[in-house]
Amino acid sequence: MKIFNNTNQLKKTISKYLSSDKTIGFVPTMGALHDGHLKLITTSLKETNITICSIYINPTQFNNLNDLNNYPKNHSEDLNKLKNVGCNIVFIPNNKEMYGNKLESNNYNLGNCLTVLEGQKRPGHFNGMLTIVEKLFSIVSPNKAYFGIKDFQQLWIIKQLLISTSSPIILREIETVRDPSGLALSSRNQHLTKNELISATKIFTALSDFKMHVHMFFSKSTKNLNNNNLKKYINQVKSNLSNDTLIKIDYFEVIDIENFSFAKNLKHNKQYRALIAAYVGETRLIDNILI
Ligand code: PAF
Repeated sequence: MKIFNNTNQLKKTISKYLSSDKTIGFVPTMGALHDGHLKLITTSLKETNITICSIYINPTQFNNLNDLNNYPKNHSEDLNKLKNVGCNIVFIPNNKEMYGNKLESNNYNLGNCLTVLEGQKRPGHFNGMLTIVEKLFSIVSPNKAYFGIKDFQQLWIIKQLLISTSSPIILREIETVRDPSGLALSSRNQHLTKNELISATKIFTALSDFKMHVHMFFSKSTKNLNNNNLKKYINQVKSNLSNDTLIKIDYFEVIDIENFSFAKNLKHNKQYRALIAAYVGETRLIDNILI
């Protein structure tokens, strides 16, 4: 496994692959790797000739300095995990390498998907994320890029970026990896205490319960699920979740995945996603489920 800190050296190596017709798979990460990340890597290893993983904690996508400073870091463990799964190249740049002297994000105009939910709760987050993803894409020139469905809004936004720039990069959406309790794997789970870990499992239970309510409704009725019923089901699962004093819900919303708008009523044979963000103690977690 080759490790690069320098953009030009990485680009030189990549140019050899590009001229040899080898396909490149790219997995951008912020480190603190878990099995969810490793699934992105192993999928890329199966589907492309060269797999490149980047590890870079991008300051511009953090709207909270505490969150940035507390983001878990463990490069030596990350490198061991990457070596074990057979990753070919790791890119670990520093801020100067990625931003020069100007640690600033670009402004993107991709519609309201940037300003609702995570965009509203974490102002500037998606501009920062898109800035670094675009920079990394231009350095790595991947044929395929791998992202987890756990960050569904991020994935949706990156898809819009690729469409709006007519990019040839193929976006591969990889299913969320969960621990046996249903809890979505996340680098932030490291911050949870034992009790918080137990509470955190209720997030996926809430999503699953909501899905069950909707499916039960559709199994009995040929009608759309109207706004009142939708709200009723959402409030039911929110209220169950709020019974746990360690949990504070930030949002629970259902979106139409065609245009990332809030669903007012649900139609048969159409796909939606329920998205949740919740604090468990001090730790903010997100998750989602296909409806
Ligand atoms: O999902 C992440 O870890 C980050 O948002 C990403 C895509 C690596 C950009 O910094």
